[in-house]
Amino acid sequence: MATIGQDIQQAKQLLEKGELVAIPTETVYGLAGNALDPTTVAKIFLVKNRPSFDPLIVHVSSLKAAHSFVAGIPKQAEQLVRRFWPGPLTLLLAKKEIIPDLVTAGLDRVGIRCPDHPLTLALLQQITFPLAAPSANPFGYVSPTSAQHVQDQLGGKISYILDGGRCQIGIESTIVGWEDQQAVIYRLGGVSLEQIESVIGKVNVRAHSTSQPQAPGQLKSHYAPRKKFLLGDIQELAKKYPVDRYGILSFQNNVTGISSDFHLILSSSGDLNEAARNLFFMLRQFDYMNIDIVLAEEVPNVGLGRAINDRLRRAASDDQV
Ligand code: TXA
Ligand code: MG
Repeated sequence: MATIGQDIQQAKQLLEKGELVAIPTETVYGLAGNALDPTTVAKIFLVKNRPSFDPLIVHVSSLKAAHSFVAGIPKQAEQLVRRFWPGPLTLLLAKKEIIPDLVTAGLDRVGIRCPDHPLTLALLQQITFPLAAPSANPFGYVSPTSAQHVQDQLGGKISYILDGGRCQIGIESTIVGWEDQQAVIYRLGGVSLEQIESVIGKVNVRAHSTSQPQAPGQLKSHYAPRKKFLLGDIQELAKKYPVDRYGILSFQNNVTGISSDFHLILSSSGDLNEAARNLFFMLRQFDYMNIDIVLAEEVPNVGLGRAINDRLRRAASDDQV
């Protein structure tokens, strides 16, 4: 099993040797390695069991650092960076040669972000290379939001997990790129559509593609918990799918008429930030409960609610793309 600790020096030494370290961010934990070293990057794909066509996000400590790895930063990108970095925003920008093709799966653009977590920012400031880091879960499964989640799934394959506590945002970063100078959101995440539009005006959202995903985070069946997961009106679903033991995931309220000892509420005060923070944590809890299926409902489709609903829909999807 991996050691869980808060020793930045140990993390640094391992990374400098080309090894992988799990790192905390405000969104989810990442499985990090030297983004400039193709051998290390190959290890990330191997440990995650991730197909090599699915590119990795590169993490940097500042906008200044980002300049070393991207060919240019459009005006709108810079406006977003100034408002949201460090934070849950990934930009797709034309990459410089120094970023290995393996990182971007051969694409011309690299996903780049500055995470908002004190331990990881301190680590990034002490190393001389950026960190390629996908979410630290096996490909297709729910992203980890605590050090223990990483230990549970990848602990046998890495030696160190930098423990930064529970992730404060709880869902992955929002991914934004530009096509013919028009901003496009490829993945809804920790910065809401409304927040992005308040800075740069109208953006297109293309986060639901199923056939030819621009970002495999767009794959319809992703974030899959191990229990069968159904999304809709919880009471209607219970009538349609009679079983002995339901797991229930509701947004704010109790659900009457269904007996369940396994009812989790995303946010009893109806706070979407709290709901986002709890989402992946609760999806994992169901895996350990003695239940037959999980019934869940969507949350209000505004702000972070859009990203939460996106994850819920994909958790509920059986489609293999
Ligand atoms: O919040 C996050 O973004 C977390 C933390 C660790 O930073 N990372 C994360 O990485 O969610 P990952 O690999 O699980 O998801 C990254 C998504 C993938 O769907 C990938 O396809 C897309 O970003 N992506 C990365 N680079 C890309 C590129 N150059 N072009 C298109 N999509 C890209
Ligand atoms: Mg992921």
